[in-house]
Amino acid sequence: MVEEEFALHDTDFRKLSKLVMSNAGIVLSERKRAFIHGRLGRRLRALGLTNFSQYCRLLEGRDGDDELRNFINAVTTNHTSFFREPHHFDYLTKEIVPGLLDSNRDTRRMRIWSAGCSSGEEPYSIAMTLLSGPQSLAGWNVKILATDLDTNVIAHAARGIYDSERAESIPAPLRKRFTTMQEGQVAMNDETCDLITFAHLNLLESWPMSGPFDVIFCRNVVIYFDKPTQRRLFDRYADMLKPDGWLIVGHSENLLGITDRLELVGRTIYRRCR
Ligand SMILES: C[S@@+](CC[C@H](N)C(=O)[O-])C[C@H]1O[C@@H](n2cnc3c(N)ncnc32)[C@H](O)[C@@H]1O
Repeated sequence: MVEEEFALHDTDFRKLSKLVMSNAGIVLSERKRAFIHGRLGRRLRALGLTNFSQYCRLLEGRDGDDELRNFINAVTTNHTSFFREPHHFDYLTKEIVPGLLDSNRDTRRMRIWSAGCSSGEEPYSIAMTLLSGPQSLAGWNVKILATDLDTNVIAHAARGIYDSERAESIPAPLRKRFTTMQEGQVAMNDETCDLITFAHLNLLESWPMSGPFDVIFCRNVVIYFDKPTQRRLFDRYADMLKPDGWLIVGHSENLLGITDRLELVGRTIYRRCR
C-alpha cells in the first residue's frame, strides 16, 4: 500500500516542517501531516525513493539545494481564482483609482504589487479592473509587479493561459475584451500582459525593487505564516508603501495586534498611517 510504502515518521516530519519554516515562513502544523504526505508522495515517486527518511537525506545532502525548490513548490498552497474576493476590485475602481488620479497627477504613475500572486489570476484581475474602469488611464504609466515563491505557478502566470472553466469567473464583458480562445484554452491579451511584470520572489528574503508602491495586494499568503513572520512582513510592506498607500489582505487575515502602521479603512483593506 502507498501509505505504508511512504511512512512519514515524526522525526522526518519535524525536519521537513523546519525546512519549510526557515525557507518559506510557512508553518506546517500536525494537521498538515496528511497534506504533506500527499504532496511529497508524488515527489518521492518521481525520484524513485521509497521513504521520507531517504527524501530528508537527499535534502540535507550535497544536491539538496537542487531539490529544495521542488520541495517548496510541492508544499505551497496555490489556490486562487479570477476576481476572488470581488469587493477588493470594486474598492480599487471606486476608491483607490480616483484617489491616485488625484494624488499622483504630477507623476502620472501607478505602482501596484501582487505579492504571492500564485498562477496570476490576481494580477490579471487587477489589470482588467484598471483597464475597464470609468476613468481613462491614457497617458498614465501603470505597472503591476506580480511575484511568488513557487517557480511553477509564476511560470504559469507569465504564460497567461488558463483552462476555460477557470476563466468563467471573469465577468463576460471583460472576458470578451481581454482574452482570446486558443485551442480550447483562454489566453490573456497583450493589453493586460503589458501592464504586468512577473518574478520569482521569496517574501522572507531581500527584495530587489525599490518601490514605493501605491497598493500592495497580499491576499491569502500570511495565513500560513506565524505571528513574528507576519509582523516583520507587514512592517516591510509599510516601508515599501507610499505614505498613504493601501494594503489589501485576504478574507481571513487581519493586522490586529500585529502592526499599528496600517489602519483598517475597509473590509480587509488597510492604509499606511505612519
Ligand atoms: C493561496 S495562494 C494566494 C494567491 C492569491 N494571492 C489569492 O489570494 O488568490 C498563496 C501563495 O503564496 C505563495 N507564498 C507562500 N509563501 C511565500 C513566500 N515566503 N514568499 C512568496 N510567496 C509565498 C504561495 O506559493 C502561493 O502561491
